[in-house]
Amino acid sequence: MKFSHPLMHNNFTKSDIKSVSKLLGKKNIILTQSNNVKQFEKKWSKWLGVKYSVFVNSGSSANLLTMTILKILYKKNEIILPTLTWVSDVNSVILNNFKPVFIDIDLKNLCMSESEILKKINKKTLAVFVTHAQGFNALSTNLLKHLKRKKIILIEDVCESHGAMFNKKKLGSFGLISNFSFYYAHHMSTIEGGMICTNNKNIYQLARILRSHGMAREMDDKKQEGKIIKKYFKKNSFGCKINLIETGKNTMTGGRLKRIKKFIGKETFMMTYGDGLSNVNLKKLLKFHKKNKKLVTLTAVRPPARFGALQLKGNLVSCFKEKSKIDENWINGGFFVMEPDFFKFLKNDHTILERKPLESIAKKKQLVAFRHEGFWQCMDTKKDKDALNKILSKRKKF
Ligand SMILES: Cc1ncc(COP(=O)(O)O)c(C=O)c1O
Repeated sequence: MKFSHPLMHNNFTKSDIKSVSKLLGKKNIILTQSNNVKQFEKKWSKWLGVKYSVFVNSGSSANLLTMTILKILYKKNEIILPTLTWVSDVNSVILNNFKPVFIDIDLKNLCMSESEILKKINKKTLAVFVTHAQGFNALSTNLLKHLKRKKIILIEDVCESHGAMFNKKKLGSFGLISNFSFYYAHHMSTIEGGMICTNNKNIYQLARILRSHGMAREMDDKKQEGKIIKKYFKKNSFGCKINLIETGKNTMTGGRLKRIKKFIGKETFMMTYGDGLSNVNLKKLLKFHKKNKKLVTLTAVRPPARFGALQLKGNLVSCFKEKSKIDENWINGGFFVMEPDFFKFLKNDHTILERKPLESIAKKKQLVAFRHEGFWQCMDTKKDKDALNKILSKRKKF
């Protein structure tokens, strides 16, 4: 007798298809990390009984990011895991340079044998990474008690066991972190997809950062974001001493500058904005500043015009130039060199550098401009961002 049992049939309902079509039909649709994803994460956390969930592209990614988080946070090196699991569980351990310690399964639940786990735990053991295989529960009260006592982290792979319970709680709500897959053969599916779940806020933030390739701006907690940025620059100082100064949420440009006065002392210093990219020659800029002996030198740039320029004689267009640089006015492109005496012009947090301070030193003939004809691009609008991304994607030299 021939017997065929497909792994899975397409199990989308008409209403699933309707909702997806509705979403795809929307104007200016956001397809990744949209509000729908946030809503799903919230509902999933509530359903599971944990505080936080981070949606990723697969259960394998959930495994990988989970092990990366452990690597970031902890020092111990051994991870205990089963011989019957998905290959991504093993890969995630090896790729993060942990030593995998394999435990054979118990045939009664296809999960790691509890007595073998307890035998293998030693001083180097960081975590036990259980897989709840095929809907079975891998946990027991005794195992949880031992892990707690020995301060061993529990990580749960629940990719194959959505909704299975132990002690009236859903699997995936016991461990420090748990992983789910929404691959289409699983109990709940997003075709491809995965989830990282935790009650730990720090781990939640780390998972979000890692999901976005390390971008600290993913964090909700701006203080924590600041800490990460500071930590990064402590490690990567590029041969310089870097001080990251809290300049306040509502402080204006001049006020921010005033707040760093004590770090400057009596030296000539350079200053620029965080949203300008240029190949201005800083050595030449400094030389120019020293030669002119003024309080402030700014870099003057001429970004390409956004519109065609016209010269009119009466109603007649005597000259037409499409998006030319030539007839554009010079503008302040940042990249300043300043003398510490300029601090006198900065009153308080509300001082806007480009208003009174620069206007008054211009009147006093204490402001000079270093003309820069090379590359300069600000990032104020979506158009600017797209232009910069294009340069980045082509790895073009500017
Ligand atoms: C136990 C287990 N972990 C991880 C995964 C990986 O999930 P995905 O296929 O979404 O990458 C699977 C996939 O079936 C699995 O069964």
